[in-house]
Amino acid sequence: MTTILETQGLTRSFGAVIAANNLNVKIEQGEIVGVIGSNGAGKTTFINMVTGYLQPSSGAIFFDGHSVLGRQPRDITRLGMARSFQVAQLFPQLTVMENALVSLVAAEGPQPSLLHPLDTRERRERAEAIFAEFGVSQYRDALVSTVPQGARKLIDIAMALVSRPRMLLLDEPTSGVSVEEKFTLMDTVMSVVRQHGVTVLFVEHDMEIVARYVTRIMAFYSGEIIANGKPRAVFDDEKVQELVIGHRIDSNVFGEVQ
Ligand SMILES: Nc1ncnc2c1ncn2[C@@H]1O[C@H](COP(=O)(O)OP(=O)(O)OP(=O)(O)O)[C@@H](O)[C@H]1O
Ligand SMILES: [Mg+2]
Repeated sequence: MTTILETQGLTRSFGAVIAANNLNVKIEQGEIVGVIGSNGAGKTTFINMVTGYLQPSSGAIFFDGHSVLGRQPRDITRLGMARSFQVAQLFPQLTVMENALVSLVAAEGPQPSLLHPLDTRERRERAEAIFAEFGVSQYRDALVSTVPQGARKLIDIAMALVSRPRMLLLDEPTSGVSVEEKFTLMDTVMSVVRQHGVTVLFVEHDMEIVARYVTRIMAFYSGEIIANGKPRAVFDDEKVQELVIGHRIDSNVFGEVQ
């Protein structure tokens, strides 16, 4: 197995609050890791630190064996680690295609000139291919503000994949999406990432979604990882039931990924 992401002693305080406390995480290539934990447990803080959006108070971060501590988010994206945010980062007053063109330019790196055209045939074709993969081609020319919430979340995640990352971190990909749409959204995302062999870590509050898609769970509580392992073992953990889930998990939520 090849480790793609590793943190050592990763710690971050906000005043008296320790949002991340000595996190030692190892993610192997090809894993689909679910991160669970109640509000304020430190899930987003962890993602923010490994993607360069937040500086740790102490500790080390390695992506693909290279230290990424202190690197800018865009440099980390270009190394192959992309992310989505808890709230979609799309420009609501631009069309879906315009958003894709902007994301593609950002993923390509600094442009030689501001006068360089954004809208090229090559980028349009690349955007079209991504829309087709995600089944959102019909929204190509729609303003993002008019696109239904489920499709909007999907487009937001698609934008994170334009840089062709090897690892993708999703912060609550199904938040704000109706119960009926959640599984469709995750089926689509998982089929695309599997096709491209992308390693995934995603934060999720819905335990049915977690049980269905992940190969491993990390349970956060108060800035610490209180359980880490196969879904069934983590759901059976008494501390997880008490501090994260609040009840026992019905065994019929498990999909075939065990
Ligand atoms: N910028 C900040 N300034 C001060 N405190 C912060 C900041 N960001 C996070 N915190 C605190 O750190 C702790 C962890 O927050 P974090 O956002 O990582 O939680 P989370 O697990 O993502 O929660 P949620 O499920 O609500 O998204 C919380 O106590 C939060 O209030
Ligand atoms: Mg969060």
